[in-house]
Amino acid sequence: MKIAKTIGSVRKLVRQARSKGKSVGLVPTMGALHQGHISLIEKATKNTSFVVVSIFVNPAQFGPKEDFKKYPRPLRNDLKLCENAGADVVFAPSAREIYPQENLTWVNVEKLSQPLCGRSRPGHFRGVATVCAKLFNIVQPDAAFFGQKDAQQAALIRRMAADLNFPLKIIICPTVRQPDGLALSSRNQYLSPQEKKDAVCLYKSLRKCRQMVVLGENSSKKIIAQMRNILSAPASAKIEYVEIVDVKTLQPLTKIDRSALVAIAVRIGSTRLIDNILIDVPK
Ligand code: PAJ
Repeated sequence: MKIAKTIGSVRKLVRQARSKGKSVGLVPTMGALHQGHISLIEKATKNTSFVVVSIFVNPAQFGPKEDFKKYPRPLRNDLKLCENAGADVVFAPSAREIYPQENLTWVNVEKLSQPLCGRSRPGHFRGVATVCAKLFNIVQPDAAFFGQKDAQQAALIRRMAADLNFPLKIIICPTVRQPDGLALSSRNQYLSPQEKKDAVCLYKSLRKCRQMVVLGENSSKKIIAQMRNILSAPASAKIEYVEIVDVKTLQPLTKIDRSALVAIAVRIGSTRLIDNILIDVPK
């Protein structure tokens, strides 16, 4: 596995792979890798023959009061995990390499960046879309792999790629969870042992939602009320939002009468966690 720190060096490696007829997959990450990231790398190795993993804690997607400085950066361990998962290259640029001068050109995916996490994280999705556009232009992959765990991000990147005619496939992979249901996240390591137990309420509330739908309930209001009960039970939990929205537009649904995204954001102590499930409603 090769490590590229510069745009020039990753482009050269991709060019060499292409000259051998290989197809290129990109897995964008911010590092502190866990089994969720690994599942994306493994999927990429199945779908493409040359896999680039980017590790870049993107300053442009963090708010001034967010955890950019304390975000974990265990690069050595990440490199080992990438190699074991079958990556061909890790692209780990510095912030200067990606933002050599004041960035004046931003990608703003209108409408999709406003609701849900967009409300409490102004500018976040502008930073995400811009860095992904840069990574797509730098690596020029045939396919890029994202996790359903960040559902709004996935919807937004899919839309950006379509709107801006990026010649690549966006592949969304399922959320990887602990046996107790907690979705894996690099931020789980901020949680204390008690908070880790409390955090299971996120998945518990999503399970409740699925169960209600299976039993024939389709009123978003009723389902959300039950979910809120579960989410507010632990003393450490503070709900930011619980919403049931249209999968594509991310606009609220009063009734689950089409495919829906059930998305939640909850603070457990000072750690902000998100999770979601998709509910398929056959037409
Ligand atoms: P990061 O949080 O490191 O996540 C990288 C990718 O891993 C994202 O596509 C995310 O959805 C996916 N992922 C995270 N946890 C997962 C889980 N439990 N199961 C499956 N996939 C999971 O998301 C970002 O970085 C950044 O915003 C990025 C896209 C790299 C742009 O900076």
